[in-house]
Amino acid sequence: MTNIVEVKDLVKKYGDNVAVKGISFAIRQGEIFGLLGPNGAGKTTTISLLSCLLTPTSGSASVVGLDLVKRTREVKKYIGLVPQDLALYPTLSARDNLNFFGRVYGLSGKALNERVDWTLELVGLTDRAKDAVETFSGGMKRRINIAAGLLHKPDILFLDEPTVGVDPQSRNYIFDNVERLNREGLTILYTTHYMEEAERLCHRVAIIDMGQIIALDSPKALTESISGGMIHIGLVNGKADALVERACKLSMIKDIRRVDGKLEIQTHRAQQALIDVLEIANQLDAKVTSLQVFEPNLETVFLRLTGKRLRD
Ligand SMILES: Nc1ncnc2c1ncn2[C@@H]1O[C@H](COP(=O)(O)OP(=O)(O)OP(=O)(O)O)[C@@H](O)[C@H]1O
Ligand SMILES: [Mg+2]
Repeated sequence: MTNIVEVKDLVKKYGDNVAVKGISFAIRQGEIFGLLGPNGAGKTTTISLLSCLLTPTSGSASVVGLDLVKRTREVKKYIGLVPQDLALYPTLSARDNLNFFGRVYGLSGKALNERVDWTLELVGLTDRAKDAVETFSGGMKRRINIAAGLLHKPDILFLDEPTVGVDPQSRNYIFDNVERLNREGLTILYTTHYMEEAERLCHRVAIIDMGQIIALDSPKALTESISGGMIHIGLVNGKADALVERACKLSMIKDIRRVDGKLEIQTHRAQQALIDVLEIANQLDAKVTSLQVFEPNLETVFLRLTGKRLRD
């Protein structure tokens, strides 16, 4: 598989503050690659380096095989950037904003009109094209920002926290757009501190903290790499003691406690432990009245690796 982005030992210092501490990774052509990390992790700095808005302190990076420092002018046309901070002219209409950004990218005439129509349709704002952007909701402004990043048909799109402060309807539009554009062949770098988004959208995720990549794999492989998981089970009276006695001998189970009349079972692997626990319940003829299974997720992976939560 071809790599569209290659990053090697990339460092960015702001004075004494080292925002990016020698990261290396590659993004494969056609994937949605996530950068997942808390506030201040270095996500925006990384995207700004990859979009040639910042110059690295050391290390190197390339997009479509072109070095970002040596071939800046050429490489920019392959990149679409949707920045974290909105960059729109509030008093201009949605269409005029897109016309403006299209001209910045070198588009004009019929080609510009067609691209503006296409991107407005994509983000579901064709019927609001003539309205001033200042009358839009936060989510609609984000969607126009995304449209602007797509006007020049980039090969890779950098989306920096595209759903922060966005209403549920716009959030769904953004998810659908990301998935559709990717199906049509666009490679996407997606930064977020919402683990649900990384789990839903990204083929691979780099977990970034304090300027360093601390894990990189598919969301499934990352969550399977750590043990854990919990089962909450409610049983009809009289059978819980017998179940505890037998279940605590199972190799998949770490600990069992009674909480609010239910059993709280700490496991090494929740799914495997669940099969054993339900088999015991069946043998005891114990009726299960409630059941909840908590598997590790990317938040758990982050917590396990750093001792911190992704969000405060
Ligand atoms: N222009 C700047 N000058 C000085 N320090 C900066 C600048 N921009 C970012 N930093 C610092 O670099 C570090 C990384 O910031 P960055 O914006 O890349 O993080 P982030 O992961 O995008 O965070 P967030 O989720 O809040 O957007 C932080 O410590 C931040 O304070
Ligand atoms: Mg940021």
